[in-house]
Amino acid sequence: MAKDKHTSQDKLWGGRFTQQTDALVERFTASVSFDRRLYKHDILGSIAHARMLARVGVLSETECAAIVTGLQDIERAIETGGFDWSVALEDVHMNIEARLIERIGEAGKKLHTGRSRNDQVATDLRLYLRDAIDAILQQIKDLQTVLLDIAGCEAETVLPGFTHLQVAQPVTFGHHMLAWFEMLERDRARLKDCRRRVNVMPLGAAALAGTCYPIDRAYTAQLLDFDTPAENSLDAVSDRDFAIEFTAAAALVMTHLSRFSEELILWSSAQFDFVDLGDAFCTGSSIMPQKKNPDVPELVRGKSGRVIGHLMALFTLMKAQPLAYNKDNQEDKEPLFDTIDTVQDSLRVYAAMLGAMQIKRERMLHAAASGYSTATDLADYLAKKGVPFRDAHEITGKIVRHAIETRRELTQLTLEELRGFSAVIKQDVFDVLKPQGSVAERNHLGGTAPAQVRAAIARARERLAR
Ligand code: ARG
Repeated sequence: MAKDKHTSQDKLWGGRFTQQTDALVERFTASVSFDRRLYKHDILGSIAHARMLARVGVLSETECAAIVTGLQDIERAIETGGFDWSVALEDVHMNIEARLIERIGEAGKKLHTGRSRNDQVATDLRLYLRDAIDAILQQIKDLQTVLLDIAGCEAETVLPGFTHLQVAQPVTFGHHMLAWFEMLERDRARLKDCRRRVNVMPLGAAALAGTCYPIDRAYTAQLLDFDTPAENSLDAVSDRDFAIEFTAAAALVMTHLSRFSEELILWSSAQFDFVDLGDAFCTGSSIMPQKKNPDVPELVRGKSGRVIGHLMALFTLMKAQPLAYNKDNQEDKEPLFDTIDTVQDSLRVYAAMLGAMQIKRERMLHAAASGYSTATDLADYLAKKGVPFRDAHEITGKIVRHAIETRRELTQLTLEELRGFSAVIKQDVFDVLKPQGSVAERNHLGGTAPAQVRAAIARARERLAR
């Protein structure tokens, strides 16, 4: 920030004060260092407010035109770096308003008629968040599209599925990608739902009680593309539920990305070796020359912590606030902004990283063929031949133990050995003991069979297009 040419004397609320603000208090109470990023939406809201005031006759058309042009000039000045932000002027709202008055004089002083910073800041924040949600929705979609593309290429790729991080049953990689798709689909639904409650207009509530001017709130709402004006003025200036809701939805997005990250980190280790994350998305070690570290997923996993933390911060900020506006609410911005930045960066980097990821099909298949991942298929095979499932489970357990003891996989046992455990076993058992056979059998809605994966991808593309 350039040297501040404003002093306490310039404060727009200075009338009733005789002493200057303490310098530390001035810095402590100012929010301009972080709320200046609301400038675009602040100007948007002010222009709509001015137009409404002109429409109901509180401002003349000439005054309104001067205000609108003045605000547009200020926006340009901010964007080209020609605007000096002042800490003495406290926040984005008073910085812009003071500059407007400097530029256009008397008309500028009328902009704040029938309005308070309380309804102004709540409006700015909602306008800002609405745009952020729209951007995030698109970024989630972009990532989902990458997942569907991978799923399409890997509909037949078999890898071990895990429960308890122990090899459980073979699944297809496409199916696994579609599981991630579903998590993101719920995230999208949550954000869309949250947007409906964000898109309600506080303007008109003024400080807390409304205003004595003949305002037309429906008109302002229409100018700003809000669905509706807020019903209650006290609630309108104090409500930050929308910020909490959004941050909760964002924390879930980050939780999902963090879970993906955990899998990618495991999969890219030498022990799994299922994927290669690509040099552009990894970093080396300053001491160990062989290292290629999955920093991007690790950081995303780490960053989920700060978003979850922001959610706690916002809850704590709100939980003891009486009606209506309290200065506590100024503390809503940094957590909210950082949440938006973190989610956006994480989604973007994820789409790029997954797009560049190499899939090691042979390694996956090899892993799926070991660890007795088709034991359940063997039990089901026996059950289909009339052995009660509990007995089939027991027999299969014995076969697995025999294989472990003789250090072989199930497919490496001979038919004779297998028949020693159950006479119903025939040559066709070897089809179900192969991972490909196992996944092909799971051919129903929601199942892992390649045919189901392809059908699910088609449905998913339709859902994305809706
Ligand atoms: N900077 C303030 C905020 O972020 C704007 C509203 C100030 N209102 C007030 N009555 N002091 O919440």
